[in-house]
Amino acid sequence: MFTRSWGYLVGLSLLATCNLVSAYSLSDTIIGSNFFDAFAWEAIADPTHGRVNYVDQGTARNQNLSYASGDTFVLRADYRSYLGSGGAGRNSVRIRSWKAYTNHVAVFNVRHMPQGCGTWPAIWEVKGSNWPDGGEIDIVEGVNDQSPNAATLHTSGGCSMPGSRDETGSPTQLDCNAAVNGNSGCGVKFRNSNSYGPSFNSNGGGWYALERTSSSIKVWFWARNDGGVPAEVRNGGSNVTPGNWGTPSANFPNSQCNIASHFQEHNIVINLTFCGDWAGGVYGNSGCPSSCDDYVNNNPGAFQNAYFDFASIRVYQ
Ligand SMILES: *[C@@H]1O[C@H](CO)[C@@H](O)[C@H](O)[C@H]1NC(C)=O
Ligand SMILES: *[C@@H]1O[C@H](CO)[C@@H](O)[C@H](O)[C@H]1NC(C)=O
Repeated sequence: MFTRSWGYLVGLSLLATCNLVSAYSLSDTIIGSNFFDAFAWEAIADPTHGRVNYVDQGTARNQNLSYASGDTFVLRADYRSYLGSGGAGRNSVRIRSWKAYTNHVAVFNVRHMPQGCGTWPAIWEVKGSNWPDGGEIDIVEGVNDQSPNAATLHTSGGCSMPGSRDETGSPTQLDCNAAVNGNSGCGVKFRNSNSYGPSFNSNGGGWYALERTSSSIKVWFWARNDGGVPAEVRNGGSNVTPGNWGTPSANFPNSQCNIASHFQEHNIVINLTFCGDWAGGVYGNSGCPSSCDDYVNNNPGAFQNAYFDFASIRVYQ
């Protein structure tokens, strides 16, 4: 009798443990000068045809386009040079984490993001090769200062999202297939206008968090002064439990998408391009002056605020 009820209790508590939301432990803390070791600077041609010239780490540091001090890490575009229309684009940076992750949580504490007409900044995750079969998760992305933020997946065919989901944002396209809808992917626009651009910056930025499992991909956003930011996110805790964070801004469930087969191991990529396929394509409707390339070439001073300032990135597994 004793043994049996003890076994029953153990069974019950195991069951309770399994039903509890899962916790993740801190695996990587990237703060200030850690960024220089954790990321590769990719001096590559922009696959999205931007008016940009991505430089290597040495050039970025010499030109102060990448700067670390204490808990500040700044990534910026050049804001001093006038550009000839026939030559290279504006110097900027694209960095990719050396480490790759499958199931994980990533918390980005961002004080400032690039702003200005023609800017197209992004914080995202993708595999080094094999796009779109390896999948792409855009956590922060937008163009021409137009808020709110959108989180988007891009995949190979056969991955789509239900129209109605447990999220605070609003879906745009539902098919994640990069080969349809001009590679718009399946996006979710966030509810808060301070999730992107000048209003994000004037508010002191905030936190974006991604949780990727084989059953869902979720993205949360909390503005700097949001009373609801979980303490473990605000304080960079050694464990996080996203199951306790409440409804995400964007939620991509696996009900019509086999996440485990559409997403492979991803690096974190942070880039700032100008114009190109998206920012250039919609520039004419953005309320910005002249044409995108011309504006980027001839108004260096307009890009003084085209920078990211990261307080930290923490990855949990
Ligand atoms: C910059 O980021 C966006 C992510 O949304 C991506 O689509 C684009 O290809 C990136 N550009 C470069 C050159 O990395
Ligand atoms: C480099 O950039 C940082 C961050 O924007 C700034 O604080 C610093 O004064 C700059 N250094 C120089 C030499 O311009």
